[in-house]
Amino acid sequence: MLKFGLFQLLLVALISSSHALSKDEFPPEFLFGASTSAYQVEGAANEDGRKPSIWDTFAHNGNGNRYEGNGDVACDQYHKYKEDVQLMANMGLDVYRFSISWSRLIPDGRGQVNSKGLQYYNNLINELISHGIQPHVTLYHWDLPQTLDDKYGGWVSRRIVKDFTAYADVCFREFGDRVKYWTTVNEANACALGGYEQGSLPPQRCSPSFKNNCSRGNSSTEPYLAAHHMLLAHASAFRLYEKKYKDMQHGFIGFNLITYGLLPLSNTSEDISATKRAQEFYIGWFLNPFTFGDYPDIMKKNAGWRLPSFTQKDSNLVKGSIDFVGINFYYTHYVKNSPGSLGMEDASFSTDMAAELLSFPLNDTYTEIPITTWSLQAVLDLLENSYGNIPIFIHENGQKTPQNSSLEDWPRVKYLHAYVGSMLDALRSGSHVKGYFVWSLLDSFELLSGYESTFGLYHVDMNDPSLRRQPKLSAQWYSNFLNGRSLDPMVTTEIEIKPMLSHTRLLHHAA
Ligand code: NOJ
Repeated sequence: MLKFGLFQLLLVALISSSHALSKDEFPPEFLFGASTSAYQVEGAANEDGRKPSIWDTFAHNGNGNRYEGNGDVACDQYHKYKEDVQLMANMGLDVYRFSISWSRLIPDGRGQVNSKGLQYYNNLINELISHGIQPHVTLYHWDLPQTLDDKYGGWVSRRIVKDFTAYADVCFREFGDRVKYWTTVNEANACALGGYEQGSLPPQRCSPSFKNNCSRGNSSTEPYLAAHHMLLAHASAFRLYEKKYKDMQHGFIGFNLITYGLLPLSNTSEDISATKRAQEFYIGWFLNPFTFGDYPDIMKKNAGWRLPSFTQKDSNLVKGSIDFVGINFYYTHYVKNSPGSLGMEDASFSTDMAAELLSFPLNDTYTEIPITTWSLQAVLDLLENSYGNIPIFIHENGQKTPQNSSLEDWPRVKYLHAYVGSMLDALRSGSHVKGYFVWSLLDSFELLSGYESTFGLYHVDMNDPSLRRQPKLSAQWYSNFLNGRSLDPMVTTEIEIKPMLSHTRLLHHAA
């Protein structure tokens, strides 16, 4: 039972009193959960045979000078997994999405399996199942074993395909009797761009013009190469599962992307086609190969030889190799045509896209993430209409608040209320969305801001040696909803920002 004072409970009870939003209205098979990732919550970075990943290296070198902290201890879920599973059970989660640390399971990225790592994930999975919670597992949440980066540059080399497949094989073999949903790569687009175009994320590879302290890299070619190898590695793991495990284990293999609501900055045909282009570059980059076996024409045209081409064999391998797409959704952006950058000598993904993403609303001074449920609907429509109505999981969605802000996290309650409500609208309009996961179960080491901002349903006191977890009001709200108490729509209306109708139309048009 989650504990709050009488006043907060009364307020939450009030929110819960109308018929507007109730779990009963969802199909019984629709899954509600929460997400985390290994480096962000596990801690025990140097324990029981785990070796460093590129994220350990990045964090210990100052996180690109943007924030402090590292995941050495984080939430210590490695030691506290039982307590955390209990929190999930108390809330009534159907499902927990977590990732496996590749270098905990196979410390050098290839070869020897670490029995302690194996034991840890078996324990976690068994604990979840014994509490009636389904495990959804991500294989790669941006934490490549450092050894593979040292050896051949990680994702920029095709050698990764074999090592990733062997890693996936170990996971399917060891955990696949209990894990039915696997996601190969988290936010593949953000990973390729942050790590290999802009150099703002590990392994910090970029051209000198990006000024992100990169000591190596090539922003013109490497994001495309890294993405290409992610597609091939995913497809290879998918085909392996199909051949060796599917009949026995009956599981599903998906791929995850960050998605944004994209809105033309103006009614001009230039901004409308720039919006279409941005969709092709961010989403079509991966979903076109999965759906049609090749990259979008506009990417081939603008990036030319720098975009790898698929051989017939690779195209056949990739096409159709996906059971579901996981999307992470937080933000909406305006899109502005930016033709001047095309064909630049120092070309990169961004200049090839020839479009600029601006904050929505413009000159955004919000500390919170604006609620734009209408643009999530547009993303779902896009997936439905352009990529074969593939089954979808909302793998991440959540509100950011400063570390140690009040446990009465109304901004998060309002945000989650709006998006959970929008899941119903999506289902009613025929979307293939199968489940919704809050980012995040716990306040954790945020990959873009360290411990400065948090997304947790549970606060983790990082100054307390026992890393005490405390439920926020949002945990109480989610628990109410998951336990069948209906919720009031009034809670969201005051901060929802709607675009002008014409813009909404344009967005659909552009999609
Ligand atoms: C993206 C990533 O998948 C996750 O690791 C991160 O913490 C959240 N979104 C919030 O930025």
